[in-house]
Amino acid sequence: MPLKIKFGFGSNANPKQELKDMIPIKRKSRMGKIKAAAELPKKNKSFNLDCLKELNKLVGLVNIKNIIEEVMAYAKIQQKREQEGLTSESMVLHMIFRGNPGTGKTTVARLMGKILKELDILDRGHINEVERADLIGEYVGHTAQKTREQIKKSLGGVLFIDEAYSLARGGSKDFGKEAIDVLVKAMEDHGKDLVLILAGYKKEMEFFINTNPGLRSRFPIHLDFPDYTEEELYEIANLMVTERQYELTMEAKNKLKRVIKKAVTTGHKYDGNARLIRNIIEKAIRAQALRLVKENNFSRNKLIFLEDPDINYLNIDEIESNEDIRLLQKTRQLAN
Ligand SMILES: Nc1ncnc2c1ncn2[C@@H]1O[C@H](COP(=O)(O)OP(=O)(O)O)[C@@H](O)[C@H]1O
Ligand SMILES: [Mg+2]
Repeated sequence: MPLKIKFGFGSNANPKQELKDMIPIKRKSRMGKIKAAAELPKKNKSFNLDCLKELNKLVGLVNIKNIIEEVMAYAKIQQKREQEGLTSESMVLHMIFRGNPGTGKTTVARLMGKILKELDILDRGHINEVERADLIGEYVGHTAQKTREQIKKSLGGVLFIDEAYSLARGGSKDFGKEAIDVLVKAMEDHGKDLVLILAGYKKEMEFFINTNPGLRSRFPIHLDFPDYTEEELYEIANLMVTERQYELTMEAKNKLKRVIKKAVTTGHKYDGNARLIRNIIEKAIRAQALRLVKENNFSRNKLIFLEDPDINYLNIDEIESNEDIRLLQKTRQLAN
């Protein structure tokens, strides 16, 4: 099968930003290092579409899907040019992911690794997920050593640093700076076999990048992960249910919609998104199990369906009835 990459991730694609705005290019002279024939991507290599299918399955994230599509198109064209003996350009693909917890950052980073491997940009495409404690040491020199170890583990794949802004936490005396310096050097030294992704809350990441001159320009791709809308969260919930081979009764669907509405309108914006949905669904699955054991009923239908009482997050019934009481009291006050 020829190298075949399917483009197009949905109907409401945003207008594309110029590719060159987003991906600074390191020029490689035609007379420069010429890849050995064996290193060139094989013309007839078939492209494994599984990771693309996985990406497409994710709810929303239109902008992110568009950018990935651009990266893929660009990589494909560079490979084709190389095959034709034309000047090829290598891409710098370090990225910043900004968004609240549960907005899909880790999920997309994992897929990014797989996709870049499929495109022959990365050899392994694995993801090494770390946080501050994995990089920071206890004495001078220890941090550099720990950070280098993590970089080594990530070569050929993605080094994903969650809550990366925490590296700047302690100011100039903190070992965070030592870690950043090592990371910056690694980005230069391993430009081709390492993709560094820094992730965290939007505001904190902005601040972090601004306090480190030179960092911003080293990260050509900045992706914003917005909070999901109520509709998207409902869709994510349904996806999670179907993937686990369960179904929701009509009453359970209605309850779920109410729970999501409540979570979106009253919840703290940092504590939810798709992760909250996963918790609700997993909790419902456990509740169903307990209910079936108590009922001693294991028919196929019973095993498949999650029912209204199984969906119970934050005691929604209690909250709602309390609210009804409050509303009633208010109406009475107004009436008096
Ligand atoms: N767009 C989406 N569609 C379907 N599931 C999603 C989506 N975004 C996140 N999830 C799911 O929600 C959970 C949390 O996502 P995660 O990537 O860990 O978020 P973050 O890293 O931003 O905290 C995971 O189980 C993930 O599979
Ligand atoms: Mg995460």
